[in-house]
Amino acid sequence: MNKIVIAIDGHSSCGKSTMAKELAKQIGYTYIDSGAMYRAVTLFCLQNKLFSGDTLDLERLKKEIQSIRITFVKNPETGQSDTYLNGKNVEREIRGMGVANKVSPVAAVGFVREEMVKQQQAMGLEKGIVMDGRDIGTVVFPNAELKIFVTASPEIRAQRRLEELIAKGENTSFEDVLHNLTTRDHIDSTRKDGPLKQAEDAVVLDNSDLTITEQNQQLLALFSEKI
Ligand code: CDP
Repeated sequence: MNKIVIAIDGHSSCGKSTMAKELAKQIGYTYIDSGAMYRAVTLFCLQNKLFSGDTLDLERLKKEIQSIRITFVKNPETGQSDTYLNGKNVEREIRGMGVANKVSPVAAVGFVREEMVKQQQAMGLEKGIVMDGRDIGTVVFPNAELKIFVTASPEIRAQRRLEELIAKGENTSFEDVLHNLTTRDHIDSTRKDGPLKQAEDAVVLDNSDLTITEQNQQLLALFSEKI
């Protein structure tokens, strides 16, 4: 059977990665978390002191961007792919609020997007992938055979992300998480390069009132229709 490319885009913290991971596992495809790549670049900026307050040293970042190596390596303990930045496992660090609060300005930089999109397109050459992000169906794989645009109400998204962060031991509040995701949505939707927007041929999935099992069934049905 010919393999296809599945692009899942949508707002912050609406469960894209949970659904993309699960779908990929069920259909034997590779899952790629494009957001993890922008988060890893952001961690690089923080670790190398490229931020001075909210100001990012674009000149230095431009020099460094080619040397930032982001890879995904399967963790035998969890069965999931962990994100590596220049050979070091950064999966835990990139998920915290420190990175979440800085990632959207980094992801809005044109030359950062150019480099990430190039790497993402290379990962999809063989097809058989499920990639989630903001611009996957519009910029990275405009010819993807199946495009999903996911959304849910901001409050529901904030509650889900808060529970995830607390389970990981992070001390944060509902208000902080809600503020972070609405700010990111605004920056992601209004930037010039690769803004978050629904592709014309995407299927919209509002999962505010769906359980993980229900959303998964809908995705599987969409996949079956396509192939
Ligand atoms: O999981 P969550 O919704 O919190 O976000 P993510 O998928 O980990 O992405 C983190 C950030 O990276 C987003 O808020 C965007 O600013 C950026 N991003 C992007 O610009 N383009 C993508 N294809 C994926 C993520």
